[in-house]
Amino acid sequence: MSDKELVALHAANLVKDGMVVGLGTGSTANLFIEALARRRNEQGLKVTAASSSVVSTIKAQSLGLPLISIEHFSRLDLYVDGADEVTPDMTLLKGRGSDLVREKLMAKAADQFLVLVDQSKLVSRIGEKFAIPIEVIPFAWQLAKRSLEAIGGRGDLRQNASKDGLAMTSHGSLVLDMTFDAGMSAEQLNAALNATPGVVEHGIFLGLASAVIIATDGKVEERRG
Ligand code: A5P
Repeated sequence: MSDKELVALHAANLVKDGMVVGLGTGSTANLFIEALARRRNEQGLKVTAASSSVVSTIKAQSLGLPLISIEHFSRLDLYVDGADEVTPDMTLLKGRGSDLVREKLMAKAADQFLVLVDQSKLVSRIGEKFAIPIEVIPFAWQLAKRSLEAIGGRGDLRQNASKDGLAMTSHGSLVLDMTFDAGMSAEQLNAALNATPGVVEHGIFLGLASAVIIATDGKVEERRG
């Protein structure tokens, strides 16, 4: 079993009867959805799921998980998702996909947000390996980019997968992938991005994770804040 499969299984075993569980997006979240569906089918676990993306909705539907849409809840028992970077204080970088808005709403709405990663996602500071994904309203992208450049940001609009156009999020936003000076803390960056007009959402998840479940060479460790 791979490290990603191990953390997915570990998280699925933490789900209790009757829970409403948010499903993240990405390869690790997919493995969690599979493990959760197996528990429902094989052990009769009673669970209602809510999906953070069209891809996760289709995955959950194909496995028979009952779903409610985001319009129909104001809280979740649990939200389970992967991440691109995790710091020692459990600040996350997410958003390599195109469903950042729903991911952050669901992470915030959950009593517990479990983050599933392997060792490769652990970093000492946010932005160490990846640029910060910043969703912007399409008509405001140049204004938002200029504001971000004024605080030291460098980067540009994300291209689509075939590199023949721009990437659009599921909410119809464009994405600026920006790097910032290493001296800027995640707290400072989070506050600056939150205060930039035209920014819809960004990939820094600060103070949202309840636990990080890490697998390293077949061993699972659970870190709680
Ligand atoms: C989706 O938008 C992202 O935030 C993913 O959660 C993140 O990229 C982790 O994906 P993997 O589990 O595929 O590494």
